[in-house]
Amino acid sequence: MASVIKKPMPSAASVATTLALLFPLFGLSSADLALPTTSFFGGGRWSLLRPSIGISAMHMQVLRDGNVVIFDRTDFGPSNLSLPGGKCRRDPADVALKVDCTAHSVLYDVESNSIRPLNVQTDTWCSSGAVRPDGTLIQTGGYNDGERKVRTFAPCVRRRRRGGNSCDWTELKENLVQRRWYASNHILPDGRVIIVGGRNVFTYEFVPKTSAKEKSFYLKFLKETRDLTEENNLYPFLHLLPDGNLFIFANKRSILFDYKKNWVIKEYPVIPGFDKRNYPSTGSSVLLPMRLGGGSKMPAAEVMICGGSPPGAFTKSDKLRVFVEASWSCGRLRVSDPNPEWTMEQMPMPRVMSDMMILPNGHVLLINGATNGTAGWEDARNAVYNPVLYLPPDGPGPAGRFEVLNAGRIPRMYHSSAVVVPDGRVLVGGSNPHSKYNFTAYPYPTDLSLEAFYPPYLSPQFAILRPSILSLEAVEQTVSYSEQFSVNFIVTMFGPSREISVGLLAPPFTTHSFAMNQRFLWLDVLGVVRLSSFAYSITVAAPPSATVAPPGYYMLFVVHSDIPSRGVWLRVR
Ligand SMILES: *[C@@H]1O[C@H](CO)[C@@H](O)[C@H](O)[C@H]1NC(C)=O
Ligand SMILES: *[C@@H]1O[C@H](CO)[C@@H](O)[C@H](O)[C@H]1NC(C)=O
Ligand SMILES: *[C@@H]1O[C@H](CO)[C@@H](O)[C@H](O)[C@H]1NC(C)=O
Repeated sequence: MASVIKKPMPSAASVATTLALLFPLFGLSSADLALPTTSFFGGGRWSLLRPSIGISAMHMQVLRDGNVVIFDRTDFGPSNLSLPGGKCRRDPADVALKVDCTAHSVLYDVESNSIRPLNVQTDTWCSSGAVRPDGTLIQTGGYNDGERKVRTFAPCVRRRRRGGNSCDWTELKENLVQRRWYASNHILPDGRVIIVGGRNVFTYEFVPKTSAKEKSFYLKFLKETRDLTEENNLYPFLHLLPDGNLFIFANKRSILFDYKKNWVIKEYPVIPGFDKRNYPSTGSSVLLPMRLGGGSKMPAAEVMICGGSPPGAFTKSDKLRVFVEASWSCGRLRVSDPNPEWTMEQMPMPRVMSDMMILPNGHVLLINGATNGTAGWEDARNAVYNPVLYLPPDGPGPAGRFEVLNAGRIPRMYHSSAVVVPDGRVLVGGSNPHSKYNFTAYPYPTDLSLEAFYPPYLSPQFAILRPSILSLEAVEQTVSYSEQFSVNFIVTMFGPSREISVGLLAPPFTTHSFAMNQRFLWLDVLGVVRLSSFAYSITVAAPPSATVAPPGYYMLFVVHSDIPSRGVWLRVR
């Protein structure tokens, strides 16, 4: 750990004062300006990036070079994208195609809006992932020949010469101890990854193992939360809490879990209502943005779980073709409180299979999914086209409010996904509720497109308020825990709220409506100084510890009046 430079710590009030003092220097008062108000109601816009990326975006991960790894499964039969150089995947056990010369993974280059086929060798269907502290994706499990595999994908080192960027998937020799299909992963403070559950697997294990003898560990909670015929506990929701323990939610129950001692510290109250929240009654879960205070004070942690389906919904859709209405509710739980109770809220519409993305301004976006039915083959109806914005109670905006945003046009049903990219857009892709690619299926054909959703803060009317980052005063864009560092940025005009915040967003691995490892931290602001007419320098403290922020690459955003800058990458270690 680097030595911590001791500076006087200005309070939030004195930071506000600094900005208030700066403001008159513009020679204008806010009353003179027709400032856009940052109301996001009904906002947002959609743009089709590519009508086809050749595969259906079932799993997505943004890497530290800004590229996005996307993959579906190898046993779909041929995809719509050939592998280059006549490469083929030969798998005698493949259920669809034993010699397959098409790609099932692509690398999407955000800057150039282009794709490159990748060669994933074993079946990644319904698998899981996390990014290691060095920025390499560790991707685990799947189906059939892939169910115990550990794969890595390291970001390409950008090469100037043409034809560079040849990085591809690697498969490790060490396999998982147990098959992991529909499991969830989380990066840990020590840089290892924990993999929890999977279909009919009531254990967790780590990658890498500390010794060759290390096995998996039984977790009764996973067995107890499994409904007899419907499961409703797959892809359990995992959130690493600032105290170093793991919050695990499955079905309707949740625990605080010490994974080192294999010890359930406590069980939280059951989420109110009848609705089930995990696959196939797929809801979604986020650890809401955490506000870091001075020094090593532990931030409060609150989890929000939205959507799902009532009990019996899967059986009804799968067996009877009756698609019951999905859950209307979200529950928030202050998991760091000693005896928290759920706060329930109602969404503007019912939702199942929605992704929840934390945006660069700390708001939560609910996107994708359906109104009726559940996850699974052909098991849902009535796509939800409108994303919804949720303003978290601790955010800069008004408390606990949902805002319905502009609708997209492509149904994003089972096996769709979404990720936030550094420029603040949300990439949306996938949708394939069929066991093969089926482009004629009605009403939800297999979708190979990639879209971008532009959240309201990207609207041109807010351009004037948008901060832009000039530089990070951190050697090699890297900071140590608790280290103080500065971000230099430009704002040409201050909005009604002159507050400047700095947020860190860990890019999640998204699949099956759960963004694994998603994490947002509001950094402690130590001071703001003016550098020139429009340039400022804000000094912040890096997160205090690896339990608050596991080591790795984060997107850093400067946020002003709810309008985020473009993100830059910051390595925390
Ligand atoms: C994928 O390929 C199939 C077969 O060539 C074709 O019918 C279909 O239109 C293609 N789909 C897309 C989205 O490109
Ligand atoms: C969706 O659920 C509602 C409420 O149960 C029901 O009235 C409607 O018919 C369902 N829609 C479909 C397409 O099944
Ligand atoms: C595609 O889906 C339709 C139903 O929407 C079905 O009739 C057809 O058999 C499916 N095609 C394949 C190849 O599975």
